[in-house]
Amino acid sequence: MAVFEVYSIPIVNRYKTSICSKAALYILCSLVLTFIPPLLIAYRSQGFWMTTNTYEEQPSVRFKKQVLLIVDTQQPGEFLAWSTYSNFNNIVQDNLRIPLVTSIETDTNGDGILDQLNFTAQVPLSTSEDVTSLQLLLFFDYRLFRMSTFQMESLAYIRHSSVSTGSSFTSFGELKLHQKTPLRHRGVDVRYNTSIVDSASLSASTYDLTNIFRSYNQRNITTIFPNNYPVWKSGRGATQPFTIQVIIDYPTETIIYQPGFWELIKWGWVQYVTILLLFLWVFREINTVVFSSKMFKTV
Ligand SMILES: *[C@@H]1O[C@H](CO)[C@@H](O)[C@H](O)[C@H]1NC(C)=O
Ligand SMILES: *[C@@H]1O[C@H](CO)[C@@H](O)[C@H](O)[C@H]1NC(C)=O
Ligand SMILES: *[C@@H]1O[C@H](CO)[C@@H](O)[C@H](O)[C@H]1NC(C)=O
Repeated sequence: MAVFEVYSIPIVNRYKTSICSKAALYILCSLVLTFIPPLLIAYRSQGFWMTTNTYEEQPSVRFKKQVLLIVDTQQPGEFLAWSTYSNFNNIVQDNLRIPLVTSIETDTNGDGILDQLNFTAQVPLSTSEDVTSLQLLLFFDYRLFRMSTFQMESLAYIRHSSVSTGSSFTSFGELKLHQKTPLRHRGVDVRYNTSIVDSASLSASTYDLTNIFRSYNQRNITTIFPNNYPVWKSGRGATQPFTIQVIIDYPTETIIYQPGFWELIKWGWVQYVTILLLFLWVFREINTVVFSSKMFKTV
């Protein structure tokens, strides 16, 4: 009957010596050289302390039904404007033109998170008025839950101008998260859960786009609408309104965050131990040779 080796137990040779001997000094050095260099290697190679990490989440976005719309008409310096901020409407006085606005948000994949906004506005125009450019601000409530509970008021800015007078404007795009700094890994984050436009203000400067964008751009977390696919159509019938249609998707985002303490430790530990295993093996081989060849005086 053939015999297989099923298990092996090595025989232990004990090498003993006093604490103040060359052998003891050698073993101390070998221990230091086993455990410290892996730490240095892991640390010096990039990414020992993970400063940022990413995760994916589809934000919970809701159109706040707040709008600020300015369209320029053909005569220089003439414009029509309207906003859901009533103080703004008072400021623009005669230039106020109230459009017919509809907005529908749909959950196309039925997962309980809204995926798309369909915003339309029809600006009534007189026969002599013709639109050459538009500026549209839409305001959103933007929330994230997976790591930190994050909530902010955010903005989509849509602008287009044309040399020809328009009958309609259409644009398709995504509301993209723009991070200057990483988010936290836990806790409640409402740093930017404040109004972008102070609707109580009676001052015209509050509604000046320069001021709105200056303060919005100072935020470390914003949303942007890259207006990549604008379609401008001419040929408006004399009594037809100017039609604006914007389709905005709320995509799943790759979110950058700052890892917590335990995630840092875990990541560092994994790297250290990987290199350490190699050193342990090398020094065990070296020590076996050193002691079995009786290089040092031991008992
Ligand atoms: C958006 O809504 C308008 C009417 O409000 C409709 O005519 C249009 O087909 C809708 N577009 C999409 C992509 O749902
Ligand atoms: C953010 O602001 C909105 C409106 O001001 C408020 O209803 C909401 O509770 C705030 N969110 C948090 C988490 O405080
Ligand atoms: C925004 O980021 C800058 C630079 O990292 C930082 O100094 C500042 O404190 C951040 N602001 C807020 C409100 O977190």
